[in-house]
Amino acid sequence: MKHDAILVLDFGGQYCNLIARRIREHKVYSEIVPCDITPQEINELNKTMNVKGLVLSGGPWSVYEKDAPKFDSQILEMGIPILGLCYGHQMIAYFSNGKVKPGKTKEYGIAFVNIAKSVGILKELDPKEKVWMSHGDTVYELPPNYEMLAYTESCPIAAFRHKTRQIYGLQWHPEVVHTENGMKMLHNFIFEVCKCEANWRPESLVDKAVKEIREIVGEGTAIIGLSGGIDSSVATFMAAKAIGERLLAIYVDHGFMRLGETEYVESTFKRLGVNVIAIHAQERFFARLVGVVDPEKKRKIIGEEFIRVFEEAARKIAADYLIQGTIYPDRIESGFRKHSDTIKTHHNVGGLPEDIEFKTIIEPLRDLYKDEVREVAKIMGLPKELVTRQPFPGPGLAVRIIGELTKEKTDLVRKADKIVTDEIEKVGLGECLWQYFAVLTKTKSTGVKGDSRAYGYTVAVRIVESKEAMTAGFARIPYDVLERISTRITNELPQVTRVVYDITHKPPATIEWE
Ligand code: XMP
Repeated sequence: MKHDAILVLDFGGQYCNLIARRIREHKVYSEIVPCDITPQEINELNKTMNVKGLVLSGGPWSVYEKDAPKFDSQILEMGIPILGLCYGHQMIAYFSNGKVKPGKTKEYGIAFVNIAKSVGILKELDPKEKVWMSHGDTVYELPPNYEMLAYTESCPIAAFRHKTRQIYGLQWHPEVVHTENGMKMLHNFIFEVCKCEANWRPESLVDKAVKEIREIVGEGTAIIGLSGGIDSSVATFMAAKAIGERLLAIYVDHGFMRLGETEYVESTFKRLGVNVIAIHAQERFFARLVGVVDPEKKRKIIGEEFIRVFEEAARKIAADYLIQGTIYPDRIESGFRKHSDTIKTHHNVGGLPEDIEFKTIIEPLRDLYKDEVREVAKIMGLPKELVTRQPFPGPGLAVRIIGELTKEKTDLVRKADKIVTDEIEKVGLGECLWQYFAVLTKTKSTGVKGDSRAYGYTVAVRIVESKEAMTAGFARIPYDVLERISTRITNELPQVTRVVYDITHKPPATIEWE
């Protein structure tokens, strides 16, 4: 059966995938496509889905910049409903002969818009709505045949629509939670404007991914990097479902894994019937990382060494394909898209070397957020302990030791991590937290242990709540739990004299320290 679908044209906006995900939350399929997609390409996609709407995403551009990404204005003539958001809104105005004023200053944050006409996408909204704006340029003169639907003090045309066609533009972002009735606006677009039927289920993602893996691998063999985190576990299950025995899951112990992790992963996946091997590569990773202090270099080295280890294992079984559990936020923060910015290189994306021996790298979870992956994991029947596991970065503890890596520091942070995990899980907080772990900082400080002066390491405890890792908040952990963590770390690890709690949200910080 073909599902109704809404395509999101990617102009490099930070929230581009969030739009697609919000649409999927309405049980309507959504996919990201390049911003310059042509009407012919849309018609081609119509063979596998019913394209009922297009959203032009935001982007970090001014329509006046020389290299600003453009769209094929022929899509405005296709009769498919269109919604432009932020940069998308300005692009529609610009291409339809409206006037866009280059912004001297950026307007960023909460704004209150006056709804002048509550129709279509703005149906049943209040006269004043709290929304999230983030823009430089402003539309200040409507294109012919358009009407204004909403305005703010500094933005005379904050929303518009075409008088006879289903084309809308919003200067604000309905997809972010700060827009109070954002979901209602998207609901209106999806059902009132595009007339979609809510007939898509997350289960379809599993079928789609399994089919894709089967088609690409054919009769060949593939290996998958299995770290034991939720993403690679789900990708492994999908791949095993797709190609069974022709999949070899490779768990690489690079020496920066959590305590007991190798045994846990090997035994769990064997029990679940997956073809899995563990490769003990601690020494070769360590040798390459000696003296490296730059976090991006660490990530690149680990990413590259991973691939080399995989290639060697693949050669032994003549595997042509590499499957990875990369998810959407990994890719966006690694700056994979033409029009967005790199924040940090996730080892399984931007850390890859350019000369890769595999025919193709397959990433079945590439468009999903972590909580969607957990949803898929539940649907696939993965054991609860795997579904609820906290995420763990590919480079492991190496990015939780600030500066140079040594075996002593690795051992320390591994033990501290175990203490944090034990204490959090003991009081049943694990399930409501995104991540909880220890970081070994570069700061040494004076302490007093058993009547004598001590000069030792400072451990930072990082505990965050998050829904999809794009943003996160430090968790308000009860003081007695923090106290137990601190006491145990300083008692059980004599080299540590101080424990601090990280009270920074993301943004401005990231979740991991490096
Ligand atoms: P940051 O630190 O960027 O992390 O806020 C967001 C989420 O991604 C995890 N993370 C990684 N995962 N490879 C991964 O597979 C990586 O290189 C990597 N770096 C960070 C991090 O633990 C958090 O959940």
